Amino acid sequence: MTLDRPEALNALSSEMLHELREVLQEVARREDLQVVILTGAGDRAFAAGADIQEMGKLGPLETERYATLGHEVARLLERMGKPVIAALNGYTLGGGTELALACDIRLASETAQIGQPEVKLGIPPGFGGSQRLTRLVGRGRASELIFLGEPIGAADAERMGLVNRVVAPERLLDEAKAWARQMQERGPLALKLAKAAIHQTQETGLSAGLDYEIKLFSLAFATDDREEGLRAFLEKRKPEFKGG
Ligand code: HXC
Repeated sequence: MTLDRPEALNALSSEMLHELREVLQEVARREDLQVVILTGAGDRAFAAGADIQEMGKLGPLETERYATLGHEVARLLERMGKPVIAALNGYTLGGGTELALACDIRLASETAQIGQPEVKLGIPPGFGGSQRLTRLVGRGRASELIFLGEPIGAADAERMGLVNRVVAPERLLDEAKAWARQMQERGPLALKLAKAAIHQTQETGLSAGLDYEIKLFSLAFATDDREEGLRAFLEKRKPEFKGG
């Protein structure tokens, strides 16, 4: 999926977010789609944030609707039962960073500049950054990025675990597709359960999370996929998963 508004560095207008929400709902439903890659059109940006022009015209109630819409899109990325890879191909700022944070894995081009510059505009993060960035990189680093508002380069982002890997710009999509293809060979149901279990770490304490893992793990044993996966290993062949 491509955030496609390159003339504005893919800034996230409410029109784009509405479309994105609709498409993500469809993608979440479609059983023939196993892995999602989210990137930005052009070679300058993943997304340079929420649409500053549009935000300038909003009152508090409209702002609440706008922020809620961004949160719904992020929730869909985070909760859909399939892996979502963000391929960060340039400026990834504000709301752009916040959507990337809701994805499961982030690959970055060497040219990526990643940050939460909202405070420079006199506003705090509003599409989930205060929560997801803090959980991903820790309070100290998140506070640094959010309070200073200065973007960091891809290498620094990789060092702090904000992105999983950095690749040359021309390799970014190929690399993302290679990761997606590898995931496609895995059991789709296993991926769905694993994603649900990982997500649960953000919602509950350790004991409840571990109990939840046991339940999901046991549920997998009611499926043909685990039958196939285990048998294929013993028969020294590649498994053919059906997703059920
Ligand atoms: C609307 C944007 C935009 C944005 C860039 N553009 N970012 N339009 N919203 N967030 C537009 C510019 O107005 C310009 O349009 C065109 O894209 C190219 O951008 P330039 O600024 O000319 O490019 P450049 O000089 O290379 O600078 C790139 C940049 C800068 C450093 C990324 O554009 C920038 O600082 N953008 C804003 C980044 C930001 O503050 N993001 C956070 C937004 S707040 P024209 O028509 O002039 O060619 C946010 C809050 C989320 O995300 C939560 C909301 C609830």
